[in-house]
This record gives sequence, C-alpha cells and structure tokens, in this order.
Amino acid sequence: MSVHSTPIPMIAHKSGPLAGVAEVPGDKSISHRALILGALSVGETHITGLLEGEDVIDTAKAMRAFGATVTRVAEGDWRVNGVGVGGFAEPTQVIDCGNSGTGVRLIMGAMATTPIAATFTGDASLNKRPMGRITDPLALFGARAVGRAGGRLPLTLVGAVDPVPVRYTLPMPSAQVKSAVLLAGLNAPGETVVIEPEPTRDHTERMLRGFGAEIDVTDSAEGRVITLKGQPDLTGQSVAVPRDPSSAAFPVCAAILVPGSEITVPGVSRNPTRDGLYITLIEMGADIAFENPRDEGGEPVADLRVKYSPALKGVTTPAERAASMIDEFPILSVVAAMAQGTTVMQGVKELRVKESDRIDAMARGLEACGVTLEETEDTLTIHGTGAVPGGAVCESRLDHRIAMSFLVLGLVADQPVAVDDGAPIATSFPVFEPLMAGLGARIERTAP
Ligand code: S3P
Repeated sequence: MSVHSTPIPMIAHKSGPLAGVAEVPGDKSISHRALILGALSVGETHITGLLEGEDVIDTAKAMRAFGATVTRVAEGDWRVNGVGVGGFAEPTQVIDCGNSGTGVRLIMGAMATTPIAATFTGDASLNKRPMGRITDPLALFGARAVGRAGGRLPLTLVGAVDPVPVRYTLPMPSAQVKSAVLLAGLNAPGETVVIEPEPTRDHTERMLRGFGAEIDVTDSAEGRVITLKGQPDLTGQSVAVPRDPSSAAFPVCAAILVPGSEITVPGVSRNPTRDGLYITLIEMGADIAFENPRDEGGEPVADLRVKYSPALKGVTTPAERAASMIDEFPILSVVAAMAQGTTVMQGVKELRVKESDRIDAMARGLEACGVTLEETEDTLTIHGTGAVPGGAVCESRLDHRIAMSFLVLGLVADQPVAVDDGAPIATSFPVFEPLMAGLGARIERTAP
C-alpha cells in the first residue's frame, strides 16, 4: 500500500549547467500493461526495464492476489506466470492500488468478465477520482459495481457470469477507459469494439497483438475503431519496456531551461500517441535531437540529445494534441512561464481529474511564484516573461508530476521553489532525486 503518511518537503535552488546521461525509468503505462497481460497469459512473461515505482509495484501485488505468480529477478527484471484469459482467482483481500488510476482502472477491466468479486481501494488522491467512467462500460458486459457516491473507491466489482461483447464509443479521450474495455473484452465471446473519436495512447492494442490477440484498428469518420476478437489464447512474451517519455520530460525541460546545459536521455519511447510535449517544445524553439531512432519491443524509441534553449517563445497547443501530452501539461506550464510570450493550452479539462486537479494545482503554485496566468474549465493560459521570481512553497497535492514540475521551476527561478511534499514522486520516478543530482541539479529534502 502506497499511502504516504509522512510528507517529504523539498526545495530546488537555481542550478549551474546540467550535464550527463539521464537514464530515466521504464514507461509506467507499458509496465502496468506488461504485468496485467502477463497475468492473463499462459506461460511465462519476461519483462525487462519494468518501472519499479510504487504504482507499478501495487499492480504487481494485485496480479499476485488474482492468482498469477509474479517474481522480481533483478532490478527491472521480472517474470510473470499467468493464469490465462478468464483464469483470475477471487482475491481474499482488498486490492489497494495506492495512487494509481491506471492500475485500478485496467485491473477492473481485466477482471470484469470473470465471475469473481473484488474490492478496490487507494490513497486519498485515488479515492477522490471518478470510476463511473470505467464501471459504466463494464456494466455493459454484465459486471456490477457498488462504490461510494459518484462511483468513487472503495468499490466492489462483481464480474459478469455470462459476459456479452460490447461496442463502446469513448465519451472522453482516455486510454485507461479504452484499455479497461479491451481487457474486459478478452473474456467475452465475439467481438468487442471500442471507438475513440480522439486517439489516445495505444500501448494496450500493441501489446495485445504481441501476446497473440486478434485486434484490428481502422480509421473511420467516427474515429479510430478498435475491434478485438474475444477469448484468445494469450501466451507469455518477452517485453522490453522503453524509458518513459513522461518521466524524461522533467530532465529534458530542466536542460532546456538551465543555461549552458546539455544532456542525453537514451532509449525513450517515441510512440506518436505520447509525443505531444516534444512536438510542442520544438515549436517553442527547444534544441532537441532524436538520435538513433529504432524499434524496441514493438515501440519506436530514440536517444534524446537536449541543449539549453535560450530563445523559447509561447505557443498554442491545440485540443487535438492534448491526449498525446496529457501528463506533460504541468511541466509544459513551467517551460511556458520561462518562455517569452503567451502559451495557451487548449482542451485540457481531463487534467482536472488526474492525481490532482492539475490545472488548479499548477495555477495556484505558479501564481505564488509570480507568474501571470488565466484558466477556464478547459484551458490554461500562461504569460511568459522569460523569468520567474519563485520564492514560494507550492502544494504537490499527492501528485508526483506537480511536485517534479515545481522542483524543475526552482532550478531556474530567481528564488528557490519548495514543495510541501515530494513523497509522491516515488509513484512514477523513484530515482528522480539521484538522477537530477547527477546532472547537477540542486534539489534537497528539507526538515518538515
Ligand atoms: C494512462 C492514461 C492517461 C494518463 C495516465 C496513464 C494509461 O490517463 O494520464 O497517466 O496508462 O493508460 P487517462 O486515460 O485518464 O487519460
């Protein structure tokens, strides 16, 4: 269980040039999926480069609770002996997914068409997040959920006894919802179809195909139509997890902003459904080169060479790009504050239901640091002046990406920037502190 009872206050100071190689951890989305699909396969899945952050460890524990054998062999090197599609056993304990929306939502999908019951809970952040977006489509398969008001956790899900396949159009751009429906469709007879009007990250589709499912993806006037043939025999695979572009975003943006920096971030996923921040940074004038492009484990990857970029300018990120950079808006808002001119982030209302309301968390913290901005329900506008006064303590609100974003701001603000709690960083980027220190960043823990 990843409930942080002891906050870890942290502070970041203006830093000299950042230099070196930043080996960021494995991709969080792919790590969750590798464990879950390994558990739903027959035979052994061998995962290398698994992210050993708290979110993913909670998913590993959950897969054990549903009957899979999950073993850590060495750092990042894990083996899963699965139970096959429809083979999940009923857990004897409550499943605690900690801080992880991805973990709980994908696991609910994976069990929804097996006739077992499970009760899910999480930390104070996860238990505030909406689950109706998952339990509504799962009900179409025949699963039943009883949770707190608004479909919040703790919640008990009773899987369908005689599942039926589903055709479902995503009401919001969410890879978690899409993935939950596809994972539920695995144990339903016939074809389950998900239509996504706006494309979202496609790791589930890629990995399902790799594990032996029949899955067809076509573009239509309604959007992307994903058709999964139910009840496949999934077989264990080798999965090499690429490094996480969402974690890479923090050292990359720090290097762009800190004068004189030059860093390399090797082996980062360049999946086009995750690339929005990098497209945006280049539009702003960032100096990023994508070297040695290659394919690793069904995902495109490259080595990023990033240099200090002195002439950054404000841009508008269109709504149709939002899904491909949904986790990167907090750090983009820091870059925007340090750029010259106005940056408008459009179509970002999904940020309001992440680990925190990320628009509100960034807006309040940036204002406290002296940044001028405006927000609406669905947009965040930052007026960059090329410098940020800083000198504030910002709330991280149990949100790893908010904590890391403000700490990167502290490396370039005129005065240090503190966060009230850096503990959530361990959910996705457990080596953030030593990695940033190794590049030359001055980030410290302070007394509570
Ligand atoms: C994720 C999907 C996104 C993202 C999250 C990881 C996934 O959430 O914010 O960090 O692995 O499918 P939504 O599906 O809610 O957009």
